[in-house]
Amino acid sequence: MSTLDEDNPLERFALASRARESLAAWTTGAQVLTLVTTLRDRGWTKFLAEPRDLETLTEFSGLPPTRLADILAVLEAHGIVRQQDGTVQLTRQFEALAAADSYIGLDELLDQAEVMSRLIRTAAEDPGPLPLTEPDALVIARATGGNATAITRALYEQSFLPQLPEITELVRGERWLDVGCGVAGATLTLATLIPEFRAVAIELVPIVAAETLRRVKEHGVADRVDVRCMDARDFDEPASFGGAFWAQPFFPEPTRAATLAVTLRSLKPGGMLFVQEMEPEPDEARRPAYTLRKLVSRGWEVPFGRSAEDLAAEGQEAGFELVRLAQTDFGRMIILQRPLS
Ligand SMILES: C[S@@+](CC[C@H](N)C(=O)[O-])C[C@H]1O[C@@H](n2cnc3c(N)ncnc32)[C@H](O)[C@@H]1O
Repeated sequence: MSTLDEDNPLERFALASRARESLAAWTTGAQVLTLVTTLRDRGWTKFLAEPRDLETLTEFSGLPPTRLADILAVLEAHGIVRQQDGTVQLTRQFEALAAADSYIGLDELLDQAEVMSRLIRTAAEDPGPLPLTEPDALVIARATGGNATAITRALYEQSFLPQLPEITELVRGERWLDVGCGVAGATLTLATLIPEFRAVAIELVPIVAAETLRRVKEHGVADRVDVRCMDARDFDEPASFGGAFWAQPFFPEPTRAATLAVTLRSLKPGGMLFVQEMEPEPDEARRPAYTLRKLVSRGWEVPFGRSAEDLAAEGQEAGFELVRLAQTDFGRMIILQRPLS
């Protein structure tokens, strides 16, 4: 037991100062997030994708010059904008994040931050599961799956697919099943990269499935990607697919065995199932954010941080054979196979 107490007021002062510093850092983060979200809602992040002179920005913002200068000082101090020769624009990093071709963009991340903050408040107040409304599910799906853009295609082409050669091989001749597709970031990237790619993408939440269908049409692949709004456990096309991806971190415990059974049955003998390990044990620097994600995920009653080894065992229990654990730029991937006989 520490003997630290009222007897040593200076030590107590030093301790409180340390806690005050932590609080100040969180407060700064929360406040700048509020500012960026508000400015995004007012169109600034799109407007500042290009250099703007102060006069144009003053007019756009509708704010007096001194207020504008103070806001710009905050944004500059946080590496969000840069000012040069009388113009203001997003820094190169924030321009890349906010751009339409971003893998997971600024809008998606800001929306996700809002939903997560609300859920964290609920988690502390309410003993029950954390309610995820349909619009929340869409926000989470958008922030998880990301967009099929030239950038994602380059990432897949140059690193992800060479690390998983099995995928390229099988999607050239066989259909792909996306189990819990969300907004189908992965499926749409593959569909826009590989002309022979054909898939069925299953999504439970109607507004998520509607957004996915919109994206499928926007990418001009509606003849090759078939979006089904349904519970994956009710899918019934036995021995029809060469490969499948299962978005395991989003499937609550009571639904997992039945989902795996359906996926196994849907694959042809020898067909492969790809499952991603999410949330491996973090290092100390990443632990604070990890604990917050764990709090919310467990409130959704999905398993959090299940290891690749445990996921492999879960698949084997459902009747799959383990092919290998692959290290990819998206973390470890478990490759399973429907037995040949
Ligand atoms: C967030 S997505 C994963 C991202 C996706 N892999 C991508 O590339 O965009 C996972 C989805 O699984 C869906 N899901 C969960 N349980 C399901 C079930 N029983 N049947 C169908 N979809 C389900 C969730 O609604 C969620 O949208």
